[in-house]
Amino acid sequence: MSVPQDLFEAALEARRRAYAPYSHFQVGAAVRDRGGAITIGCNVENASYGLCCCAERVALFDMVAAARKEPVEICVVADVPDVVSPCGACRQVIYELAKDALVWLCNTGGASRQVTAADLLPFPFSLERPDQPKDR
Ligand code: THU
Repeated sequence: MSVPQDLFEAALEARRRAYAPYSHFQVGAAVRDRGGAITIGCNVENASYGLCCCAERVALFDMVAAARKEPVEICVVADVPDVVSPCGACRQVIYELAKDALVWLCNTGGASRQVTAADLLPFPFSLERPDQPKDR
């Protein structure tokens, strides 16, 4: 199976909006929720390098801000020879906000590989305890 075309094109469009004047590495992401809405994100860099934010996190944070829930699939795309591989911070965020989503890792040529949040992060950090109610 390969990445759904509409989700891939949304991620490519997001990638065109990347603000990456330091790395020149543009990344796009698109998240589809159960209702069918697609939220997109691009990487946004800063002269203070530690403030750079990856495309996946921008998309997932915007999904939360837009009150969209239940992400079912995520596509991430960059211009790489194989397919893009999310950084550790994004893996933790994907696990938190999109644990059950299919994750499509792509390159701009259309190659794709489907993984799960658990594939990306087998032993995630968690604050969950049995006696604690969840906010979401
Ligand atoms: N980046 C992403 O947006 N997503 C990834 O999965 C890997 C890295 C961004 C962060 C930074 O703006 C640039 O790519 C180079 O690391």
